[in-house]
Amino acid sequence: MKIIKHIQSMQRFVNELSRNGKTIGFVPTMGALHEGHLSLIDEAKKHADFVIMSIFVNPTQFDKKDDLKKYPRDFEADEKLAKSRGVDCIFYPTAEEMYPKKSWTSVSVSEITNTLCGTTRAGHFDGVVLVVAKLFNIAKPHFAVFGQKDAQQVAVIKQMVADLNFDVKIITAKIVREADGLAMSSRNLRLSKENRERALALHRGLQATKFAFENGERNVENLIDISRKIIETGQIQIDYLEIVDVESFQKIERIEKKALIAVAAFLGDVRLIDNEILDIS
Ligand code: PAJ
Repeated sequence: MKIIKHIQSMQRFVNELSRNGKTIGFVPTMGALHEGHLSLIDEAKKHADFVIMSIFVNPTQFDKKDDLKKYPRDFEADEKLAKSRGVDCIFYPTAEEMYPKKSWTSVSVSEITNTLCGTTRAGHFDGVVLVVAKLFNIAKPHFAVFGQKDAQQVAVIKQMVADLNFDVKIITAKIVREADGLAMSSRNLRLSKENRERALALHRGLQATKFAFENGERNVENLIDISRKIIETGQIQIDYLEIVDVESFQKIERIEKKALIAVAAFLGDVRLIDNEILDIS
């Protein structure tokens, strides 16, 4: 497995791969790899001759300095996991390599970012979209795999790709959970034992809404209440709990087509997110 730290070396390398007719699959991450990230590699390997994973804790997408500082980093462990799952190359730049100076160009996706994490984490998606646009121009993949865990992020990336005509196909992979239902996240490492237990109410709440939906409930307020009651039993501080249209991410009052219930919540100083698709078909 190759490790490349410089942008130019990466670009030269992928140009050569493409010249040789290789299909490049790309999995962007911020490291602290877990089974959720590794499932994206499996998905990429289904379609690609060559899989590139980026590991870069992107400072421009953190709205809180402390969250950036505390973000778990362990390159050696990540390297082993990526290799064991068959990654062909890791792109591992420094922040200075990616941002030698403050970027004067901004990329911003509107509408989809008017709800959920777009409103509660100021500037977050601008940071994500900027770094993903840069990474696409560096790794030049034919397709890239993102997790449904960050549902709004995938929708935002898809919109950027469509609006700016990036020649990259976006593949979405399903949420990987712990055996007890908690969505895997690098931030789970920071939960105290007590909060780890409390966090289970998140998935339980969303599942209860999904169950009610499958049994015919279509009123959004009622559906949200079902989740809220269960989540609040975990003494969890809800950041948002919303049902939105799965494509536009706009709030709705009744479910008439495919929708998404999404939650963000604080357990101590750790912010977790989760979601479930409510599919009408
Ligand atoms: P990060 O949080 O490291 O996540 C990298 C990818 O792994 C994302 O596509 C995310 O949705 C996916 N992922 C995380 N947990 C998952 C789970 N439990 N099941 C399935 N997929 C999961 O998302 C980012 O990094 C950054 O914003 C990035 C896109 C790399 C830009 O900096």
